[in-house]
Amino acid sequence: MRKRKLFHDHAGVKKQEGMAFLPPALELMKSHSCLSMQVNNAAVSFNEIDTNSVEHAETVLNTNFYGTKLLTEALLPLFRRSPATSRILNISSQLGLLNKVRNPSLRRLLLDEEALTEGKIEAMVSQFLAQVKDGTWGEHGWPKVWTDYAVSKLALNAYTRVLAQRLQSGGERVRVNCFCPGFTRTDMTKGWGKRTAEEVADFGARLALLPPGELPTGTFFKWRTPQLYSKL
Ligand SMILES: NC(=O)c1ccc[n+]([C@@H]2O[C@H](COP(=O)([O-])OP(=O)(O)OC[C@H]3O[C@@H](n4cnc5c(N)ncnc54)[C@H](OP(=O)(O)O)[C@@H]3O)[C@@H](O)[C@H]2O)c1
Repeated sequence: MRKRKLFHDHAGVKKQEGMAFLPPALELMKSHSCLSMQVNNAAVSFNEIDTNSVEHAETVLNTNFYGTKLLTEALLPLFRRSPATSRILNISSQLGLLNKVRNPSLRRLLLDEEALTEGKIEAMVSQFLAQVKDGTWGEHGWPKVWTDYAVSKLALNAYTRVLAQRLQSGGERVRVNCFCPGFTRTDMTKGWGKRTAEEVADFGARLALLPPGELPTGTFFKWRTPQLYSKL
């Protein structure tokens, strides 16, 4: 979708693992006095439509969750300096909705709005990666389809909500939401899907640009439908 020009400034996550994306973010901080919008689109999945390998789970979690989170946190000072209401849109997936989680204690953890923290979300991700390493991940009620990708989006959805709450309670004028484009014909789906990337990019851009009075925060949009946190 980046190629369809939903994004102009591709300063974000770099191909290398780890913190390699931070230097471009710091460059952006030097060259811009403020930022008013960030769309986090970059993500990977190494599965075919009908396979479910977790061989690349670490890369998937690092790119889709940690990359997005660390870049967002690095750029927050620029959003704080924006004179306008600023917005962060995380491109996510319904594969990471709570109804895909079959483990009740994991669901409870993610649903407990008061108690959920970034630390708990990261602990969940570490637990998943440890289970992938010791080969027990299949026994713990994680999402069934594209499990590593789904866990990365589960974590991203939960982080979005926690961040939205943190910013709101700090009186910051930054709105942060998730958008699931649905099954879209891109490289990730090997060209399969119900929608074109152009359609989805148009809608995503409109969502990102909603006037402040119409722009919620901490909301997961499944295509056009806002879903409450409790339904994530
Ligand atoms: N397609 C769907 O059905 C669907 C459904 C739900 C959600 N989504 C979400 O929509 C977003 C876009 O996915 P897509 O379908 O357009 O997939 P895609 O065609 O595979 O595009 C993924 C994009 O992410 C970039 N990227 C991946 N890893 C990166 C890294 N480490 N550093 C920098 N850029 C990186 C890729 O850059 P390069 O081109 O340079 O490799 C590419 O532009 C993703 O967040 C995905 O999870 C897609």
